[in-house]
Amino acid sequence: MTDAHAIDSLGWERRTFVPSDAFRSNALVSDHSLYDEASQDSTAFWAKQARELISWSKEWHTASEWNLPFAKWFVGGELNVSYNCLDRHVLAGRGDKVAFHFEGEPGDTRTVTYAQLLDETQRFANVLKGLGVVKGDRVNIYMPMIPEAAIAMLACARIGAAHSVVFGGFSAISLTDRINDAEAKVLITADGGWRRGEIFPLKHTADEALLGTSTITDVVVVRRGGNEITMHDGRDHWYHELMAQADPVCPPEPMDSEQLLFLLYTSGTTGKPKGIMHTSGGYLTQAAFTHKYVFDLHADTDVYWCTADVGWITGHTYIVYGPLANGATQVMYEGVPNFPGNDRMWQIVEKYGVTLFYTAPTAIRTFMKWGDHEPAKHDLSSLRLLGSVGEPINPEAWMWYHEHIGGSTCPIVDTWWQTETGAIMISPLPGVTTTKPGSATFGLPGIGTELVDESGEHVERGGGYLTLTQPWPAMLRGIWGDPDRYRETYWSRFPGRYFAGDGAKLDDDGYLWLLGRVDDVMNVSGHRISTTEVESALVSHPSVCEAAVVGALDATTGQAIIAYVTLRGGFEGDEQALRNHVAVEIGSIAKPKAIYFTPDLPKTRSGKIMRRLLRDVAEGRNLGDTSTLADASVVNELQRRAAEAPAED
Ligand code: WTA
Repeated sequence: MTDAHAIDSLGWERRTFVPSDAFRSNALVSDHSLYDEASQDSTAFWAKQARELISWSKEWHTASEWNLPFAKWFVGGELNVSYNCLDRHVLAGRGDKVAFHFEGEPGDTRTVTYAQLLDETQRFANVLKGLGVVKGDRVNIYMPMIPEAAIAMLACARIGAAHSVVFGGFSAISLTDRINDAEAKVLITADGGWRRGEIFPLKHTADEALLGTSTITDVVVVRRGGNEITMHDGRDHWYHELMAQADPVCPPEPMDSEQLLFLLYTSGTTGKPKGIMHTSGGYLTQAAFTHKYVFDLHADTDVYWCTADVGWITGHTYIVYGPLANGATQVMYEGVPNFPGNDRMWQIVEKYGVTLFYTAPTAIRTFMKWGDHEPAKHDLSSLRLLGSVGEPINPEAWMWYHEHIGGSTCPIVDTWWQTETGAIMISPLPGVTTTKPGSATFGLPGIGTELVDESGEHVERGGGYLTLTQPWPAMLRGIWGDPDRYRETYWSRFPGRYFAGDGAKLDDDGYLWLLGRVDDVMNVSGHRISTTEVESALVSHPSVCEAAVVGALDATTGQAIIAYVTLRGGFEGDEQALRNHVAVEIGSIAKPKAIYFTPDLPKTRSGKIMRRLLRDVAEGRNLGDTSTLADASVVNELQRRAAEAPAED
């Protein structure tokens, strides 16, 4: 296995946590019935969930169709996703129920009920229609974390346009690329949003991005930051002005179960981000199912808070579609966790009486760093379940989360999934599964997982590659505009099955321990960034001749981006300038933590850059066999310098 080091670092975690009687007695599931049912016939199992959790305007005739690698779910069925997330709750008399407790970073608040969310969504759907958006079009969304982001997504769903949300931290160039790939017609953005006490400009960046696009006809701008912006006549419109004139009624049009719901771009092993395609019926079924059962949602009493941004898949599935389909009440927070103080999250938990809390290991490790006294300032006794997502959670962070946030009583669900899987795949069920700190435990009911070795042979115990053996309702339907890349990326490494790109280990009790990516994708603070993408950004700078990028283990962010750069003749190495250049090319999330300048990169005799070796250097490990190197002195020099100057922020 490639990640022997990660296996070592796990140690042999022996602690176990059995669901408490108190939790089990109230849990939606406290026995193995769902697993048993799904193992009998997983298609029938999902069909039952689709019937129970989703409202269809037309029954499907075939639950699942599988022409490897292309799947369809609930074929022939029709539904409207926004109807499922909004109308049906209002029609059932729950219009006054709070959908979002919105908390702005400066401390402003808004309470949005299901009736209000439905009203705004209908109006905005009419706004989009008025701008000429029709079923099948793509709409780009580049927004801060405000309710209008969810409204924009739901309005697209209502009229059958696919949204493509781009995280607000991405640069103008990244936005340009994504708009062009999707050939989007309309862009929805805001003047700016709040972050760490300041406004970060979105409209300004969007204007820059639009210089490189030709498909966008109209831009809708939400006023949030109040910052100065330029409105382009004929192209740009204020959200509040269009909404004031919009017809309040837009009936939910029935859509085919396989209607494209959204595209979400994610990093792969090559430089070009891929537009992951998700459709309607299957996606919504698994989103609702997992949100209900993994978080043990009691929609009438729970207050749920997922700290992700809508720009990532976690925000799509576990802020917008899953929770709203289930009629949940949730908290939406705009800003950073340390404004104005390091206890902002815990203050919010106390203020709204949050019961279910879902965040990422990188955040948990940051909270650990800030100290036990921060959560101790607040009454967190409303919490009854905690979740983790985005990267492997190390046992120390798990234990800290358990003790200092969960008061040693909340079950923790460590949920493994991907942009491509659409919804949670591997996780405990909190009333059923005995957990071990750091293990995501088992595949959910209806999900087939298997570890295999290099040659695709079944692995019973120990390390291997994580594969998924059967189609699942929320699975990606492809890569936008590139079916060959879809087949090649996910279905060719191990024929007949989906290769997740992750390594994992099975312990003696059959528990799964995720070990991180085995390909050239880094995971920095739970965000996927490809090494090639950062390398291309670096090489596009005039001073750079060649670059190699690796993800090195980092105590807080999981991995940190370390770059090795050789310069063109006559140029001086300017680390800050290169870091800023990467921020412009991709976004500040992709800035290398450290850049080492070197006259040469370590290469095999056939000229391949030895990234594995550079990772060893970056992580301070002793190098094994370097005999395949063309010039071993290159590495000795890098190693000497890495030892002298540990990577700093
Ligand atoms: C990693 C985020 C270990 C994994 C939902 C995966 C995890 C990638 C976990 C997908 C977890 C996500 N334990 N690793 N609980 N959850 N990952 O597409 O490497 O942003 O392949 O989706 O994150 O990242 P993505």
